[in-house]
Amino acid sequence: MTQSKTESPKQERDRIVIFDTTMRDGEQSPGASMTLEEKLEIAKLLEELGVDVIEAGFAIASKGDFEAIAEISKVIRDSVVCSLARSGAADVDRAAEALKGAARKRIHTFIATSPLHMKHKLQMTPETVHQAVHDSVTRARNYCDDVEWSAEDGTRTEHDFLCRTVETAIKAGAGTINIPDTVGYTMPDEFTALIGMLRNRVPNIDKAVLSVHCHNDLGLAVANSLAAVRAGARQIECTINGLGERAGNAAMEEIVMGIGTRSDLLPYRTGVKTETIMRASLLVSAVTGFVVQPNKAIVGANAFAHEAGIHQDGMLKHSGTYEIMTPESVGLTKSTLVMGKHSGRHAFKTKLRDLGYELGDNALFDAFTRFKDLADKKKDIYDEDIIALVDDSMTRRNERIKVTALKVSCGTGVRPKAELELEIDGARSTTTAEGDGPVDAVFNGIGQLFPHRAHLQLFQIHAVTEGTDAQGEVTVRLEEDGRTVNGQGADTDTMVASAYAYVNALNKLLVKREKTAPAALSA
Ligand code: KIV
Ligand code: ZN
Repeated sequence: MTQSKTESPKQERDRIVIFDTTMRDGEQSPGASMTLEEKLEIAKLLEELGVDVIEAGFAIASKGDFEAIAEISKVIRDSVVCSLARSGAADVDRAAEALKGAARKRIHTFIATSPLHMKHKLQMTPETVHQAVHDSVTRARNYCDDVEWSAEDGTRTEHDFLCRTVETAIKAGAGTINIPDTVGYTMPDEFTALIGMLRNRVPNIDKAVLSVHCHNDLGLAVANSLAAVRAGARQIECTINGLGERAGNAAMEEIVMGIGTRSDLLPYRTGVKTETIMRASLLVSAVTGFVVQPNKAIVGANAFAHEAGIHQDGMLKHSGTYEIMTPESVGLTKSTLVMGKHSGRHAFKTKLRDLGYELGDNALFDAFTRFKDLADKKKDIYDEDIIALVDDSMTRRNERIKVTALKVSCGTGVRPKAELELEIDGARSTTTAEGDGPVDAVFNGIGQLFPHRAHLQLFQIHAVTEGTDAQGEVTVRLEEDGRTVNGQGADTDTMVASAYAYVNALNKLLVKREKTAPAALSA
């Protein structure tokens, strides 16, 4: 991060504070749930990316959220770690408790201020909401100096009331005032005017950083956020890949590259190291199973691809003809051929270090063994192959259920059959299962060896690189009693990758079950 620990972002007029809510608002997307380990991995990468504030969860919402905030608080040292809290005392207390270990912490408390939300959702009068703003911010300030207050549904709030609540929140000690466009309703010009109105009418507005939090229901989250910055907002709340409730939040990569690329119109800077954007996008996509659409700005597979002959011709003559940013600036390096079956352990370790992995001896041994297996099956091994392989090995270390053998037979005129061996808590067992297709047969086999109640919600496969010998990366989403998990698996054999992914998801469900009630391993 470029910002030092003592330097407050609000001291610099052109510095935009980047507040990441991938693990809070992002995780609220149906199916985007993350395990504690995954959240820790994302938090560390967000810190490396240079994010100023990491909203790690909503402490009172669940035991899992509380634990994630507490664990993230222990390891993150540069970025501010934040927990969301409604306005009630119990919410604020729980947020403070979760953040206890943080080097730099923030409590983010909110209440809805629009007539619609106050009347129908909260069933509170404006007066009681106003009092709650005062009480929640005051209570949060007793726990920490850095308090943010949000006016939920701010863009549909009456201006007089919005000004009054913002003034009260600042008086009570909020250092950041956030104006969410909760339902993605506003338009850039209107939002510019709203931010300008607050700056003109709220007498103590200079004592706080103005922040915005835009949803993408009309596809305007990034445009609205940038419009707000031009009107004086200095914090943007956003998520990696635009993950978030319904149509999502403003995408961080688009905000940051928009500011960096159009510095003529947007003379501001962020602390984000843009070269890490691609890694963050890939990690969030792998963890959630939310595939990034190929034509997505900045991080989509086609964002820097030039297909049309006239474009390719222009690119060869001058890359500026069709490229407004370089692929390298977002961390997209040309896919490099890394090594083959003759590459040694030392070269492999060096390659891992270049890709950002520091593995311990055992993990390195496992990864190197798998690399050698892969090199036997696949002639050319690329960076993407190594990343998929190492992520897959790390995912499956210490799992209680392991796939130890799999043979699948299928084809025209035969019923697909899977012969499967699993190791469950050290004990191996085998079965043969049939299914409507080879994947179905594999999953039926897993169900026979480890009966469970989980339902398959998503099965997704994509190729890590080009070519028919590419590794297949499979995501499986399982749901059990309202808990959702995503499992991943990678292998050149898509049936093996499918089995790995399903078993990985089952292992995650087991971890979740153990956290609620430690019990013997059974379905
Ligand atoms: O969209 C919203 O209003 C929110 C608030 C809790 C900040 O997510
Ligand atoms: Zn939101």
